[in-house]
Amino acid sequence: MAVSGLVMLGYLVLHMIGNLKIFFGASELNGYAAWLRTIGQPFLGHAWFLWIARVALVAAVVVHGVAAYQLSRRDLAARPTGYQHSGARRTRARQSYATRTMRWGGVILALFIVWHILDLTTLTVNPVADPGHPYQNIVGAFRTWYDGGIYCVAMLALGLHVRHGFWSAAQTLGANSPGRDRALKLTANLLALVLTAGFLSVPIAVMTGIVR
Ligand code: HEM
Repeated sequence: MAVSGLVMLGYLVLHMIGNLKIFFGASELNGYAAWLRTIGQPFLGHAWFLWIARVALVAAVVVHGVAAYQLSRRDLAARPTGYQHSGARRTRARQSYATRTMRWGGVILALFIVWHILDLTTLTVNPVADPGHPYQNIVGAFRTWYDGGIYCVAMLALGLHVRHGFWSAAQTLGANSPGRDRALKLTANLLALVLTAGFLSVPIAVMTGIVR
């Protein structure tokens, strides 16, 4: 979980920085998207690098999902039953706030990724659907209240997921120690804040007419 999560986190940081090019205008963002398809040329063919990245990301998502499922099963198996109150209320109370947020956040993000790919990669549900023009597609999509809304909710879920996920990954990989815990927690909070603010700025800028 930790390693696949960190791979996706690295991708998200780069993706968020790339998205901010929207504030420099259509030709800047569209030019950047075109450049992404030329990475590695002439050694690699057109858009090969993008496909390699896609395969790596799908692998990370699958590993992350399977590990999350196994973790849930293990939690269920380890849960004491038939002792004291085994009612639903106690079961819920025993699950920590973070566990529940991570599970729901993970489900929301998985659904979001499917929507996002249909919206801005395959353009299946995009109202503009102009291949090679992500600027126009983004502006067209976020002008509709429901799409802008979906992105805002998903970005808040992303922030919470990254905040707790980064801290959990640090523990799993043994990076934490009493002397380092404060710095790691601060890094987790900062990463979550910067990612959420950076990603959120795009739908908000379109919905408020700053980017049009
Ligand atoms: C406001 C936030 C976001 C915007 C405006 C945005 C925009 C875009 C755009 C325009 C593309 C297509 C790029 C291209 O074809 O050149 C794209 C691809 C992608 N985005 Fe986002 N994105 C956002 C947030 C996210 C988040 C939070 C995730 C992951 C949780 C994500 C995951 C992806 C992935 C995996 C692709 C690659 C799909 C592919 O080409 O196969 N994006 N994004």
